[in-house]
Amino acid sequence: MTKFSYLDVLAKLEVTGAHPGGMPLTRSLLSKEAIQPESHVLDAGCGLGETSVFLAKTYRCQVQAIDQHTGMVSKAREKLKEFSHAKVHQGSLENLPFSENEFDFVLSESVLTFLNTDIVLKEIYRVLKKDGCFIMNEMALLDLLSNQEMREVQSFYNLHSCFTANEWIEKLKVAGFLNIELIEAKEQLDLDDPLYDLSLSVNLEEECLNTLDEHMKLTKRYKDQLGYVILKCAK
Ligand SMILES: C[S@@+](CC[C@H](N)C(=O)[O-])C[C@H]1O[C@@H](n2cnc3c(N)ncnc32)[C@H](O)[C@@H]1O
Repeated sequence: MTKFSYLDVLAKLEVTGAHPGGMPLTRSLLSKEAIQPESHVLDAGCGLGETSVFLAKTYRCQVQAIDQHTGMVSKAREKLKEFSHAKVHQGSLENLPFSENEFDFVLSESVLTFLNTDIVLKEIYRVLKKDGCFIMNEMALLDLLSNQEMREVQSFYNLHSCFTANEWIEKLKVAGFLNIELIEAKEQLDLDDPLYDLSLSVNLEEECLNTLDEHMKLTKRYKDQLGYVILKCAK
């Protein structure tokens, strides 16, 4: 067991856009949505806040970002402080500090898989407006892993669960979402992953390097089984 978890390393090394496809995919997904300055948008599990900054800058919409990791939240607050129409909250997606029907758009990027999905999807459904849009870009199983392989992946990333695209769709249906659309489901191995470059940096603490090393080994070993899914749905 290393001192730094995968999420600690993302925070420590300030890895932005820490989700499959990175910011290019985020930009492309959001460009297809009618986000207006008066739109209320929730960046659920915002990490370092890169997507929130993009939303605030590009669409000038009303951005709320939330994450539970202290290091992530303080860095996201720093980045977003120049935008009066954006706010960063520290808290859990399992108990969102927002009212019902508050958001036109909710976005989750590489977050849900760390959490109790049933609880979080209900929370996202609760805060989404009727006809609002939820877009998720999350880890997905493309092919079966043995129990032991699954345990290895879950324990390294500290995942609550890992679903296939169809299982994700089922979860969304059970939470009440409508018009569920599968945008993309594909493998995750990404040689442009910023972590690959960081691992070459000579100044990293050994514990950090060990975590990065393990992340890279796992993404390579399970490149055909672990991928991501992008789903879009409505309330
Ligand atoms: C892989 S990072 C992705 C961050 C960001 N969405 C991005 O794409 O760069 C996962 C994030 O989920 C956050 N997270 C994990 N559990 C959470 C919870 N219960 N409530 C809120 N955020 C959580 C972590 O702190 C971390 O910032």
